[in-house]
Amino acid sequence: MGDTLGMDRRTAVGAMAGLGVAAVAGTAMGAGDSIPRSELGWDAQKKEYTLPPLPYAYDALEPHIDEQTMRLHHDKHHAGYVRGLNRALAALAGIRSGEVDASLIKHWSRELSFHGSGHVNHLLFWAGMAPAGEGGGGEPTGALAEAIARDFGSFQAFTAQFQAAAGAVEGSGWAWLVHEPLADRLMVIQMEKHQDLTVSGVNPILGIDVWEHAYYLRYQNRRKAYVKAFSNVINWTRADDLLARSRA
Ligand SMILES: [Fe+2]
Repeated sequence: MGDTLGMDRRTAVGAMAGLGVAAVAGTAMGAGDSIPRSELGWDAQKKEYTLPPLPYAYDALEPHIDEQTMRLHHDKHHAGYVRGLNRALAALAGIRSGEVDASLIKHWSRELSFHGSGHVNHLLFWAGMAPAGEGGGGEPTGALAEAIARDFGSFQAFTAQFQAAAGAVEGSGWAWLVHEPLADRLMVIQMEKHQDLTVSGVNPILGIDVWEHAYYLRYQNRRKAYVKAFSNVINWTRADDLLARSRA
C-alpha cells in the first residue's frame, strides 16, 4: 500500500540480486548481508534508494585518493547510479501496471542491473576503505589472512594477482576479492562495467573501482599507480568481517 514502486525493500533488493545487482554480491547473499540494511540507502517512506554519506570525510583518504576525486565520485557518479536505479525500478513497476511499454522490459532490466550494481558496488567500495594508518592499509589478520595464505599461497601472491587484475580490466570496471561459500574458497575476479564477468554466488570481500572517474584527476592514465596507492587505504578489518559473514 502506498508503494509507488510496487515492491517493498526486501523484494527490491532480492530482485536486484537476482538480476545481477552486484552480481558480485550474488544470489547467495544479496546486498543486505554485506552492507547493514541501515546503510543501504533505502528510504522506506519514499520507497526509493537514497545516497548515503561517505563513512569518512572527503579528504580522509589523502594523499592516496584526493578530496576532489572523492567529492565528484560520491556526489556525482554514485548519485547518478542511485537515480538510475530508482528510474529503472519505477519503469519496471510501470510495466507491471501497464503504464510503461512492456516491450521495453529488456532495456529497463539492463538498466536495473547496471545502476543497481553501480549503487551497491560503490557502497562496498566506500566501506572497504579507511584513512591510512587509521584502519586503512597494512595486511589482513585473523581468518582472512589464513584464507588468503591458503588460497593464494601468500599475501604477496594475492596482492600481485589483485593488482594485476585491477590494472588489466578492459575499459571501465572493478577487481574484487570474493569468497565462494559453497567450497569456501577465495578468488580474485575482474568485473567490466558494474556487473559483467562476475561469478555467480560469490560474496564480495574487497573491491577496487578502476573506472577512470575513480583516479584520473590525480593519476591521469597511470591506473597502476592508483591501484598501488589503494593498498594504503584498504580496510582489512572490514574485509575480514565480510569473510566471516560469508562463512556464517
Ligand atoms: Fe566509481
